[in-house]
Amino acid sequence: MNVTDAINRRHSYRGKYIQEPVPREDLVTIMEAGLAAPSGCNKQTTSMISVDDPEVLAKIRAVIDPPVAETAPAMICVLTQRICAYRDKCYAVQDYSAALENMLLTIVDLGYQSCWFEGHITDEDRICDRIAEILDVPEGYDLVCILPVGKAAGEPVLPKKKEFTERAWFNRFGNNG
Ligand SMILES: Cc1cc2nc3c(=O)[nH]c(=O)nc-3n(C[C@H](O)[C@H](O)[C@H](O)COP(=O)(O)O)c2cc1C
Repeated sequence: MNVTDAINRRHSYRGKYIQEPVPREDLVTIMEAGLAAPSGCNKQTTSMISVDDPEVLAKIRAVIDPPVAETAPAMICVLTQRICAYRDKCYAVQDYSAALENMLLTIVDLGYQSCWFEGHITDEDRICDRIAEILDVPEGYDLVCILPVGKAAGEPVLPKKKEFTERAWFNRFGNNG
């Protein structure tokens, strides 16, 4: 699959997963793609933990309420460090977003599905902190997102996207000519 195919085939998948373990080498390939992403001033503020141990997955699932990704055989938990790139400039959010997209595309390339679950776990109930505790994440790292990984048992529901001409132009704002 080329990059453009992977970009166009990636969709947020919130359905059930086939109960088949994800080989470690695939999880390594996905994490390597995340680590290969650019980062502001090369501060490399993003790290990640792949969870494939059913006992650890069960502990994580137990704190995700309402539940998501319940049947995923693996999950990648994304961590960030709020390190300044220069002066007071911190690009940690941009850094982990770039890493996340790289991982989502690699997940699709390897034949798996996923979904960027950030809002759900970083809301007021701070599910993210409870997952971080389960994973022994030390001070200074924030767990910001989980990516389920697995083969889909169903099809993704495609969201409505605005037309190209509503968001992308040539030479000046709003110019479709
Ligand atoms: C920063 C960010 C946070 C997100 N958080 C969630 C989330 O908590 N739960 C969820 O179901 N989807 C979440 N998503 C996925 C979006 O809902 C999804 O990307 C959007 O609806 C477009 O659909 P698509 O990914 O299929 O193109 C998040 C996406 C981003 C970029």
